[in-house]
Amino acid sequence: MKQNIDRRQFIKNTAVLSTAAAAAPALLGAESSNPAPTGKIRIGYIGCGNVSGSYLPNLTSNPIIEVVSVCDIIPERAKKRAQQFKVPNIYPNIEEQLAGVPFDLLVNTTSMPSHGPVNKKALEAKRNVWSEKPMALEVSFASELLALAKRNGVHIWGSPTCVTSPQFKFMVDTMNSGKIGKVTAGHGTYGHGGPGWSGWFYQKGGGSLYDLGVYNVTTFTGLLGPVKEVVGMETIINPTRKVEDQGEVKVEADENTMLIMNHGNGVLSHVQTGFVYFDGERLAGEGRQLYTIDVTGTKGTMHMQGWDWGPGGVDIASQGEAVLETFCKDPGKYNWVGGASYVAECLLTGKPSLITPEHALHVLEVMNACHESARTGRKVNIETTFKWPLFA
Ligand SMILES: NC(=O)c1ccc[n+]([C@@H]2O[C@H](COP(=O)([O-])OP(=O)(O)OC[C@H]3O[C@@H](n4cnc5c(N)ncnc54)[C@H](O)[C@@H]3O)[C@@H](O)[C@H]2O)c1
Repeated sequence: MKQNIDRRQFIKNTAVLSTAAAAAPALLGAESSNPAPTGKIRIGYIGCGNVSGSYLPNLTSNPIIEVVSVCDIIPERAKKRAQQFKVPNIYPNIEEQLAGVPFDLLVNTTSMPSHGPVNKKALEAKRNVWSEKPMALEVSFASELLALAKRNGVHIWGSPTCVTSPQFKFMVDTMNSGKIGKVTAGHGTYGHGGPGWSGWFYQKGGGSLYDLGVYNVTTFTGLLGPVKEVVGMETIINPTRKVEDQGEVKVEADENTMLIMNHGNGVLSHVQTGFVYFDGERLAGEGRQLYTIDVTGTKGTMHMQGWDWGPGGVDIASQGEAVLETFCKDPGKYNWVGGASYVAECLLTGKPSLITPEHALHVLEVMNACHESARTGRKVNIETTFKWPLFA
């Protein structure tokens, strides 16, 4: 599937949208006029919970974006964000948002179990979609979304954004330079004590792998290539948790997870993730950046400082240069909540996107294979793949 569309294609797509809107106003709402008439991508934002407090400042300060509506099934949340970020239209559900003021790109930061159904409705209404991870809970549902997007001439992209950081690119370039020899193994870690605001994180369709480990899985598949087979182990440490929205909830989703991936060609990587991790040491002291991604080769090693969604530099030691040296500290324009801005720019300019739906689908299959392996005690083969290497 072509990842980006050029401006002409974008105009064509939105022209289709205009025609469809005229034909089916109940579905698409007021007639969609010229695409980006002010040179901006119009965004409909859905899911005004915790992370919207980070997304909306990024989106509303981007000159190529106009956030035209916000939506949440808890209407006070949408109202609060609308006031805070001066968004003119508020809706209580996706149906009314799609039928309301026209927009080009849905930004979906609802709870994880809502992603698939909400994304599907938006694609059916011929809207482009940026979805928080995962884009759906099942691989079959997510594949259907990719096919639906293609049929309707629109796009879906899924978080996270870590393959767009300068540090990720630097690691790829270092591997390609031969400096660390043949890459053999990777180790990633991402955990904290678990979110305290919403119960869904601990219920079916939630869990630490979808919420946190997903970053490391995206990084390693991006660096080392598509995965062939997976082994996983998962435990639950706390039978129940106290959360702000639901009080005491039963913990049903993975809290403590170990995943091993075989990338083929002899390369293995391992991700550990959990909602049961002490992370105070990572927060102690100004600029303290522990390693979260380690890549080992036959002639050297490299280590990413800080989280892979917000890296602080890359340390390298290699044959003849055995003392670790830090490189690539500058984050440039990279921002972990900048994914929707990134794809908006791709839509507007035709720039190809490094973030692809096929990669997100593959990551979902790997995560679900980890769940299956943990459940059955068996190694699980992976069927999906994506275009790799990411950089030509
Ligand atoms: N909170 C963070 O720091 C953070 C960081 C990165 C990514 N994320 C991801 O962002 C997503 C949201 O996380 P959050 O922490 O903001 O969760 P949250 O529970 O605080 O917010 C989710 C919001 O979505 C709304 N919602 C749920 N279903 C809906 C539907 N069908 N239609 C409209 N609104 C609906 C809920 O009412 C809620 O306000 C998740 O995928 C999470 O993994 C969160």
